[in-house]
Amino acid sequence: MKRVFSGVQPSGTLTIGNYLGAIKQFVRLQETHECFYCVVDLHALTVPQDPERLGRQTLQVAAMMVASGLDPDKMTLFVQSHVRAHAELSWLLQCMTYYGELGRMTQFKDKARRQKHATVSAALFTYPVLQAADILLYDTHLVPVGEDQRQHLELTRDIAERFNNRYGETFVVPEVYIPRTGGRIMSLDNASTKMSKSNPNPGSYIALLDEPDVIREKIGRAKTDSGREVRYDPEEKPEISNLLTIYSLCSGRSIEDIEAEYEGRGYKDFKGGLAEAVIATLRPVQEAYHELMESGAIREILDRGADRAREIAETTLDRVKDRMGLVPRL
Ligand code: TYM
Repeated sequence: MKRVFSGVQPSGTLTIGNYLGAIKQFVRLQETHECFYCVVDLHALTVPQDPERLGRQTLQVAAMMVASGLDPDKMTLFVQSHVRAHAELSWLLQCMTYYGELGRMTQFKDKARRQKHATVSAALFTYPVLQAADILLYDTHLVPVGEDQRQHLELTRDIAERFNNRYGETFVVPEVYIPRTGGRIMSLDNASTKMSKSNPNPGSYIALLDEPDVIREKIGRAKTDSGREVRYDPEEKPEISNLLTIYSLCSGRSIEDIEAEYEGRGYKDFKGGLAEAVIATLRPVQEAYHELMESGAIREILDRGADRAREIAETTLDRVKDRMGLVPRL
């Protein structure tokens, strides 16, 4: 079975963008691949975090992933900081990565622009190398992510190929897997920026744990154009096209089918139907989430996951250290 690896940051709440762009694919792939999914708490530390909140959010995000349909008997779910090899391989790969390459990463440039330059952490700069380490530790073939991670995946491939060229075949060079629709869900208040949990305006995103009334209200307020035609046209109608994408993915219906249903009916009806489709998608996830959090089962799932992950990661790390000429202990 081919290997899959992907990670999710425990920063804030997950959005329907994370769910449709990534987690839905994680759930599907567990049926056909050997999957490793990771709550990447070390990545979250690249920007200031409140310690108590970080711990809580790490468990919450893990529980949301299981509640979304990840089955502990079919895949491995773990916390990044539970497997030391991630940080260690990251250092080794930093020695193989160029300053210029990291300076070209658009996510770094965007995040750094939003902070005062002098206080941007060095780790925010080297963040993509830790991501490469995550992936390469598991001899990963396929990495399901949203569109925003494409550049980081290209860098991962470059690092893997460079290492293999310099030290001989060591790493599997992974392929990126981005869904054809849903790879980039946009904000509800601005269809030119992606929906993000770090947006200060909660009206810009639908959180996985939003109550039905909140979802109705957010969708009701979502920005649209001044027309009334429900038609998929990302150039002319980016807001409606984004809502149609969400509607289609939540309902399992085709975009054409939804367009036909709302022909001549205007945006209010359409938004009403969309809100119900989103609520119906999230209801079972929310119910499963609350059950999991009450039972405390998530800690055990993560503990077992870390044991499984550690075994594979350490074998890869030993191979890498050997190739690089680091002397093993007796
Ligand atoms: P993160 O935590 O920001 O997001 C988790 C996953 O959700 C996807 N995503 C979206 N997809 C569609 N539309 C959106 N609006 C949207 N917002 C987020 C992301 O693309 C991602 O797949 N650097 C990564 C975490 C990471 C990782 C890894 C991923 C660390 N190591 C190794 C893959 C492999 C991140 O910050 O994702």
